[in-house]
Amino acid sequence: MILVTGGLGFIGSHTVVSLQEKGHEVLIVDDLSNSTIEVLKGIEAACGTRPKFQELNLQNSLGVAGIFKSHKITGIIHFAAAKAVGESVKKPIAYYQNNIGSLLNLLAEIQTLDKPIPFIFSSSCTVYGEAKTLPISERAAIQPAMSPYGNTKQVGEEILVDTVKALEGFKVISLRYFNPIGAHPSIAIGELPIGKPQNLVPFITQTAAGLYPKLTIFGNDYPTPDGTNVRDYIHVVDLAEAHVVALEHVLACKSTDAYEVFNLGTGKGSSVLEVIKSFERVSGQKLIYKIGKRRAGDVIAAYADTSKANEVLGWKTKRSLDEAVSSAWDWEKKIRGR
Ligand code: WQD
Repeated sequence: MILVTGGLGFIGSHTVVSLQEKGHEVLIVDDLSNSTIEVLKGIEAACGTRPKFQELNLQNSLGVAGIFKSHKITGIIHFAAAKAVGESVKKPIAYYQNNIGSLLNLLAEIQTLDKPIPFIFSSSCTVYGEAKTLPISERAAIQPAMSPYGNTKQVGEEILVDTVKALEGFKVISLRYFNPIGAHPSIAIGELPIGKPQNLVPFITQTAAGLYPKLTIFGNDYPTPDGTNVRDYIHVVDLAEAHVVALEHVLACKSTDAYEVFNLGTGKGSSVLEVIKSFERVSGQKLIYKIGKRRAGDVIAAYADTSKANEVLGWKTKRSLDEAVSSAWDWEKKIRGR
């Protein structure tokens, strides 16, 4: 059984669908802090199978031990973490307790097993900060984290590097995501709009749905072709499929190193204005926006060198920016009952 922590979240739920479509049995553990139990129904609607579920905050070490006692866990994909950059600046202690404490509880259980099990860690391109060269490869320098959230990803990776050295046979893959967007084509699952959106694409679709009068573009005076920031927007289903490929890569003992890192992106940069144009193309409607001040902490440009995932995992994205933006808009219209 594959344990998917945070499996009711945006990327987690899409990964559970991909896992079940490949025949894996899944147990989701989630504390519902940033999701709802309804997502279980959505997962079932998307792929015909309802995964096992247990509500648990992974900071509860007894609860984590109980998971391993009651289930034969053969692999772990660990998403469960708080992930709001701005909130992490205001609540660093809660972020370290949750994100690092949860990881340590899982690892403490793994080391009690007769045979360690594969561990896929949800990391982020945020570890690169403002990379010196583009596209960004896995060899790029890790820059000092710009937020406690980003630091929990960096520290999480360091903990895993140390643990694989000490735990014979323990194999870990860290997946550094670029910018996940979109929704499953069934639109039975998508990015839940909990609170005011921080990210660009949910803000675009909620503005288009009339929840906000206009979108603010955070600066158009950057040294980029059109002055707006450039990012690598990856369809969440492409990202989900990469997790299954990575897990199966370790399960099939194809990993050459105990600890491997892969950047997951399309390999193509898109500016904020290009994403807006994509939305207008796929929706057929104009988006109202204004140019505002730069947002603190934004890097100028970040997009992935995907050659390592292409060559080692045999994985690359299949879906375009338009497909991803269109699926995000379909999801928005569905949840607004349009
Ligand atoms: C993208 C671009 C904004 C909103 C974040 C996290 C990162 C990772 C991915 C978890 C930027 C601009 C946005 C708006 C705008 N998450 N923007 N107006 O910041 O690249 O990455 O998500 O690992 O850790 O930081 O994504 O979608 O917030 O911003 O102009 O209303 O859109 O300035 O250039 P970001 P984003």
